[in-house]
Amino acid sequence: MTNTYLISKKIHRLLVLIILTIGLLMAVTGLMLKYPSFAMEYLPFLNLGKIRYLHNSLSLYFSIVLVLMIMTGIWMYIYPSIKKFRSKSSTPPDDQTNG
Ligand code: HEM
Repeated sequence: MTNTYLISKKIHRLLVLIILTIGLLMAVTGLMLKYPSFAMEYLPFLNLGKIRYLHNSLSLYFSIVLVLMIMTGIWMYIYPSIKKFRSKSSTPPDDQTNG
């Protein structure tokens, strides 16, 4: 069972890097969509249609990575409680006969 915790941790750590990268791109492209006049004034070489397309395309991957991060994060969060509960229920009760 510890294995599942370690696998979750590895996946979660990798996903952090991925979501940081995609999240930054989402934020930058999203802000350009929010303030198109600003984007056009200072970054006239950009095509807002393509920016919108990029924002839209990345959103799917962002959502998938976020869901996977939530799942692995929840597992790592509840893992200690599950382990505690399981070890408690599997240890035999104290022997009271010897005093
Ligand atoms: C991180 C900061 C973000 C900002 C500032 C931002 C901002 C925006 C803005 C201003 C629009 C245009 C809305 C309109 O047409 O009136 C937009 C569209 C959209 N956003 Fe974001 N967004 C962000 C993150 C996200 C995330 C995390 C997702 C999904 C995972 C997402 C998915 C979408 C989608 C699917 C659209 C529609 C694109 C289209 O019209 O083709 N956005 N966003």
